[in-house]
Amino acid sequence: MALNDTVAELRRSGADVISFGAGAPTVPPPRATFGALADFDVAKSSGYGSSRGERFLLDALCRWYETELGAVTTPDQHLVTNGAKQAVMIALLALCDGGDEIAIPDPYWPSYVDMARLAGVSARLLPYAADTPDIGAWIDQVSDRTKLVMYSSPANPTGAVLSLDDIRRLAAWARETDRWIVADEIYGFQYYRQARPAPSVLQLPADEAEHVLHISSASKTFALMGHRVGWITAHPNVITRCAAVASNMAGNVNTAAQSLVARALSTPQTELSGRCAQLGEQRDVLCSALESVPWLRWRKPDGGLFVWCELVGDLVGSFDGDAIAAGLLADQHVAVVPGSAFGHRDAVRLSFTEPPGQIRSGVERIKAWGERRL
Ligand SMILES: Cc1ncc(COP(=O)(O)O)c(C=O)c1O
Repeated sequence: MALNDTVAELRRSGADVISFGAGAPTVPPPRATFGALADFDVAKSSGYGSSRGERFLLDALCRWYETELGAVTTPDQHLVTNGAKQAVMIALLALCDGGDEIAIPDPYWPSYVDMARLAGVSARLLPYAADTPDIGAWIDQVSDRTKLVMYSSPANPTGAVLSLDDIRRLAAWARETDRWIVADEIYGFQYYRQARPAPSVLQLPADEAEHVLHISSASKTFALMGHRVGWITAHPNVITRCAAVASNMAGNVNTAAQSLVARALSTPQTELSGRCAQLGEQRDVLCSALESVPWLRWRKPDGGLFVWCELVGDLVGSFDGDAIAAGLLADQHVAVVPGSAFGHRDAVRLSFTEPPGQIRSGVERIKAWGERRL
């Protein structure tokens, strides 16, 4: 059973579970979305939609990226998808042939590897980097068969963020070597180093971005996970290739959900930065509480929703991340995600989406659990 379902079931049975397992915001969506579905005109909008996305949403994406990132795009540079998850799959199918290889920085979001398998391509892991990504090492480690590099920035699970210089270097390399960069920037609005979104491939001039795809969605920025709306932004020729795949996969994305997301994109910047500041505060609370747990080594993440914790010290001999996650849930009703989900047995991932009081109590329970076993 998925961790979130287990947590929900335990809570239904009356258990006081503190969850560091959520991979998405636990706050409601922005005010701009309230009532949006009630306003949706079902009678006028029940036909099949465009497989590229409704024009009102494509226009809203153009306005949104211009305001937020200073990025000028045209509607034919966006393709609306069923979440970022489907966007990743579409990009793989559009850009790769069976037998190709894709390169993924390690640790990685597990769906990249699973989807590569579904697309019939192999996955090569780039050097492990729990903190600062090393673009030079990535480039050195690809092979002749590598068709594209796919990464998340801010990263799930580590929270590491690529600088604009890193992004520029990767994009130039992809152009020169006829490869692709697929930048999953779904956590771009959970960035804590400055009161602006994280550096993005969309900030590159058009001629530097011909081999680059940006992926994002309404899930993390607007807490609209269940409505399943994401998008790919790239050169119009790339979007045409992706649209050919999309139209065969799902026809179009739910039109009512698209109208909801168009409303979400009108959320005032002050409200969005308030949401980000709240998460930044929760990150700080989690990190300072974790200082009292000697068997976890971590680095304060610059973005995203997670702290990636490596296991250190005496506990490591007896427990791996799976055993710790199972023990914490059974003995302390604390949910964490084992590192094995991201390819690493000696780690756990903690999210900071719960309110500060819950975070502090949860870490107290983690600490108590470890003290009894050391
Ligand atoms: C890095 C990354 N990309 C994509 C997704 C999927 O997002 P969506 O809900 O838009 O499909 C997630 C969700 O956890 C994620 O962590």
